[in-house]
Amino acid sequence: MRLGHLSRLALGTTASPDRTGGAFFLPRFEPNRYIARPMESSSLPGFREFYPDELALRNHIFAAWREVAATYGFVEYDGPPLEPLELYTRKSGEEIVGQLYQFTDRGGREVALRPEMTPSFARMIASRAAALPKPIRWFSIPQLFRYERPQRGRLREHFQLNMDIVGEADPLADAELVAAGVDALRALGLRAEHIVVRVSDRRLISGVLGTLGVPDEGRLQVFAALDKMHRESEEWVRDRLGVAGADANAIDRILGLADATLERLSAEYGDTHDVADAIGRLERFFAHMRAFGLEEFVVFDAGLVRGLAYYTGTVFEIWERSGRLRAICGGGRYDDLLGALGGVDLPAVGFGMGDVVLAELLRDLELLPDVSATVQDYIVCVSEAERPLALELAMILRESGRRVTYDLRERGVGRQLKAANQAGAERAIILGPDELTRNAVIVRLLESGQESEVQLDSLRVSGNAQ
Ligand code: HAM
Repeated sequence: MRLGHLSRLALGTTASPDRTGGAFFLPRFEPNRYIARPMESSSLPGFREFYPDELALRNHIFAAWREVAATYGFVEYDGPPLEPLELYTRKSGEEIVGQLYQFTDRGGREVALRPEMTPSFARMIASRAAALPKPIRWFSIPQLFRYERPQRGRLREHFQLNMDIVGEADPLADAELVAAGVDALRALGLRAEHIVVRVSDRRLISGVLGTLGVPDEGRLQVFAALDKMHRESEEWVRDRLGVAGADANAIDRILGLADATLERLSAEYGDTHDVADAIGRLERFFAHMRAFGLEEFVVFDAGLVRGLAYYTGTVFEIWERSGRLRAICGGGRYDDLLGALGGVDLPAVGFGMGDVVLAELLRDLELLPDVSATVQDYIVCVSEAERPLALELAMILRESGRRVTYDLRERGVGRQLKAANQAGAERAIILGPDELTRNAVIVRLLESGQESEVQLDSLRVSGNAQ
C-alpha cells in the first residue's frame, strides 16, 4: 500500500463535499468506504458502482418500467450516448448546458455526453417522421450525464425512463403520459399517499405574463426564475423577474401565482383568450385523469414551469408528497422541438423519470423487494470420484432451469454444506459412494435439514428431485 495515495485520498474525502462517489442507491453517504482504497481504483464523484444487490435493484426498477411501458403500447428505442455539442446548446436551455460533459474528440468535433434524451429522440423521430404511423409512442431507458454537485438525489450519471408521444396535440396525450408515469411508480408499490403529480401549462402562465405586460422575449427568463423559486431567495427571483421586463406590480402578481387555483386564475385572467384556452385544456386533462381513476394523484400548481427551454404547453413533475426529496419525474409538451431540430411540424409530449430519487424513496418506504437471486441447488461431492457425475448433473439441472453451483475444488462435506448455506441454496444434492451403489443421491433441504434418498434417474429426467 502506498502511503502517498492513502493520505491524498483521506484528504479528498474529508476536505471536499464533492468526493462522495459510490453507493448512491443508499440514502446515506458512506465516505469511509473510500478512505482505504488507493486513489486510482476509486470511481469518480457522482458515478455509481453497481454491486450485485444494487444492480438487482436497478434491474427491478427497469423491469417494472418496461412492463408498464409495454402495457401502454410503447416500443423501446435507444440513441447514441455521445452527441454533437450543438444538439444541446441550441435547445436544452442554460442550466443543462452549464452541466455538460463536453470535449473535443480526436477528429476535432465538439461533442457532449448526453445529459437528456429528448433532443436525440426528437432528431430520430424527425428524420423518419413521414414513415412512422402517428401517434408515435416510444420509450427508452438511457444513462445520462450531468456535471452537477453530487448530493442526495442528484448524481453525475443517472438512468431515466423516457416516454414520449409524438403527433397528438390533444390533452388526452398529456393525460395518457401522466397516467403511464403514475403507473410506472405504482408498479413499484407507490401509492397516492406517497406521490403527487403537479401539473401546469406554460401557455397559461404565458397568457398571464402577457396580461401583466411582460414582453415576449422575457418569458423564458421568467420561467427559468420561477423554476428556481424553491431553491433561491425571493430577492434573487424578484431581481431576475425585473431583468425579464416585469414591473413591481407584475413581480408581486407573478410571485402570487405559486398558490393560485384554476378558479382564481380563471376569474382574474379568464377574459384573455390564451388563458381561457389553456384553462379549458387543463380542465379536460383533469377530467381524463378522473376517468382513469387517478384524480387523487394529480394537482394543479401554477408555480410549476420546469427549467428546460423547449416546453411549450403542459408541464408536470412527480414528487414525493412531503417534498423532502427532489423530483422523481419531470416532463411536458414540446410542440416546436421537432420543427427546430428536424424541420417537421409535429406536436410532442413526454417525461423523464430518474432512478436515483426513486430508489431512495423505495428504500425509505421499505418497498424494496428481495432481489437476491440465490442459488437453488448446491451439488456436494463426498470424494473426487463423484466429480464427473456432479458436472453431468449440474448441466442437466441447469438445462431444466435450476440455478446450480458446487465447490470448484476438493473440500470436506461439512465445508461444502456450509458454502451451500452461505450461497442461500434451497437444497444440497449430496453424491456419496454408498447411495450411488443404489443409483441414488441424498437431497437435503437446507432450511429444514430434512433429507431423503432420491433416484439419480429421476433427477436426470425431470431435473427436479421433489
Ligand atoms: P429533467 O427534469 O431534467 O427532464 O429530468 C427528469 C428527471 O430525471 C428528474 O425529475 C430526476 O428524477 C432525474 N434527474 C435529472 N437530473 C438528475 C441527476 N443529476 N441525478 C439524478 N437524477 C436526475 C428531462 O431530462 C427531460 N428531457 C424529460 C422529458 C422527456 N421531457 C420530455 N420528454
